Amino acid sequence: MGQPATVEQAIAAVSQRLQEAGVALGQGTLRPRDEAAWLVLWSLHMPLDSDDEALSTTLSAPQWDRVLGSLERRIESRMPMAYLSGEAWLQGVPFHVDPRAIIPRSLIAEVLAEGLLDEFIPNDQADVLDLCTGNGSLAVLCAMAWPQARVDGLDLSTDALAVADMNVRRHGLQDRIHLQASDGLAHASGPYDLIVCNPPYVNADSMAQLPPEFRHEPDLALAGGPDGMNFIRPLLTQAASFLHPHGALVLEIGHEFEHFVRAFPRLSGWWLPSSAGDEQVVLITRDALLESRP
Ligand SMILES: C[S@@+](CC[C@H](N)C(=O)[O-])C[C@H]1O[C@@H](n2cnc3c(N)ncnc32)[C@H](O)[C@@H]1O
Repeated sequence: MGQPATVEQAIAAVSQRLQEAGVALGQGTLRPRDEAAWLVLWSLHMPLDSDDEALSTTLSAPQWDRVLGSLERRIESRMPMAYLSGEAWLQGVPFHVDPRAIIPRSLIAEVLAEGLLDEFIPNDQADVLDLCTGNGSLAVLCAMAWPQARVDGLDLSTDALAVADMNVRRHGLQDRIHLQASDGLAHASGPYDLIVCNPPYVNADSMAQLPPEFRHEPDLALAGGPDGMNFIRPLLTQAASFLHPHGALVLEIGHEFEHFVRAFPRLSGWWLPSSAGDEQVVLITRDALLESRP
């Protein structure tokens, strides 16, 4: 690769090289150009929201060497950019990330930002549970969205909870977010006004075909058993007992819609729209959870 003249041209060259190398996206970016911009700007210590003027600046030989070094690492190791750089953003909010926890990208963040869950949150005081909190991003976004809320963040992985703790402190929310190790709802207190949950839901066939980038993330964060429903089955039986009468569970199921409706044919939920489609995030009221119990 010859040395490009400007930062913008470097981004274009890196984008093409990433595509030729067949790197997988979906862990913070969806387009090669965005992944390339992240790689180049991070390598040059430039802000990710650099404007056109900054992008048209001349690239020096040592700068290009730095970019090439990062590019080689990205391609050889298949390490996602978020792990290489140690940072990821969700709804514009920065989070520390490292391979102890999955990279933040939950669609529940979009639903939150749209205000679709506000009606479940009382004005004076609210209790929210982020079950499977992982990196803590949803707990942080809930606490930011609803200043009157106390948020519990539960996860089975103490490694992930250590990352969540860094993010809670980074955003100064340790007074309102309580992190706790828990297998499912075992150590949940409640009752909650809202439970949000982005659980491990990837079915076994899909797990077997995961691109190498995703294998850098903890298996525990992804693998949901044969049909992806291993975590969700007991959750749907137990969740009502942890909700106020007006409460609801918001659950992300990714691409597992067919497995979900096959596993829970009697359950009625509201499918919430997101950028990934209308069948990936479902809201289930406490009443609906009770009615679907066997
Ligand atoms: C898909 S990740 C979600 C992380 C984070 N909420 C997010 O959206 O980025 C799923 C999380 O569930 C956790 N987990 C897996 N099995 C669990 C269990 N039995 N009880 C509690 N948490 C579990 C994993 O450690 C992982 O952090």
